[in-house]
Amino acid sequence: MVPCVVVAAPATIANLGPGFDVFGLALSEPVDVVEARVSKSGMKISSITGVSAASLPRDPKLNTVCIAAARVMEIIGCRGGLEFEIRKGIKPGGGMGSSGAGAAAGAVIANELFNGGLPKSKLIEAAAVAEGRVAGSIHYDNVTPAIAGGFTIVTSIEPFEYVALDLPKMKIAVAKPAIEVPTREARKILPKEVPLRDAVANVGRATAMVAALGRGDLKLLGRCMVDAIAEPVRAPLVPGFSEVRRAAIDAGALGAAMAGSGPAVFAIVEPRGDAKKIAAVMREAFEGAGLKCETIITSPGDGVRVVERR
Ligand code: HSE
Repeated sequence: MVPCVVVAAPATIANLGPGFDVFGLALSEPVDVVEARVSKSGMKISSITGVSAASLPRDPKLNTVCIAAARVMEIIGCRGGLEFEIRKGIKPGGGMGSSGAGAAAGAVIANELFNGGLPKSKLIEAAAVAEGRVAGSIHYDNVTPAIAGGFTIVTSIEPFEYVALDLPKMKIAVAKPAIEVPTREARKILPKEVPLRDAVANVGRATAMVAALGRGDLKLLGRCMVDAIAEPVRAPLVPGFSEVRRAAIDAGALGAAMAGSGPAVFAIVEPRGDAKKIAAVMREAFEGAGLKCETIITSPGDGVRVVERR
């Protein structure tokens, strides 16, 4: 029988306020499911189904699943091929790490099917290269939690290093407006230099968030989830952003921020908090700004999981 593996790769939230390009969080839902079987040579995508499937490239040279898998095969010196079936649960361009999830899935699949034995850090590097082709620049904050799970901190790029932390229990409400903000575009408008006071404010809040995780202090975590660097310049790309954030906090969220480069906005909610109500006010605020919006309630989750091996 041809070796085959099915993996589930999680949506992720990058930045989480002040941790631009550094903090990332894996979610339990939504996920992309990718099935792959070994072939004689080359890469082939036999189907892409699910959310916005038609918008995704089926050319293996342009799809993050195949680019990451090819990179892992190159590292382990393997010559076989792979054929993929991709079932998208994560909307591309939505701010929830869609391309990173694909890249993470591809890297883990190649390592599994060809017995690569690579550590997670090497798989993350391979996935980051793949995502960089699509996003226009390499950033590790989606692919790191997509592979390692939980809350991750990218501590160094060269050499690549990260830290993964456990999280206290919490709910996460996400409002997904019906617009796309490609990361490539959202990065073009970032400032080249940052005022010292903004850098200082971000360092203070980011370090306090890490302390809050250690103590299980969700209130401190949420209060510090405020970015002075990227979010203010990106807010105009997401109509209603400030109102959505405000509405979430007024309805009892502990903190709210743009998910990655947007347009999704997420809010953290106490385990017993009314996440449905918070999601509803976020949706209403987006609708008030003239945008249709879907919401989900999710929670922190694992990295890529192998769900089946045949
Ligand atoms: N840190 C990246 C950015 C994440 O904000 O551009 C994109 O999801």
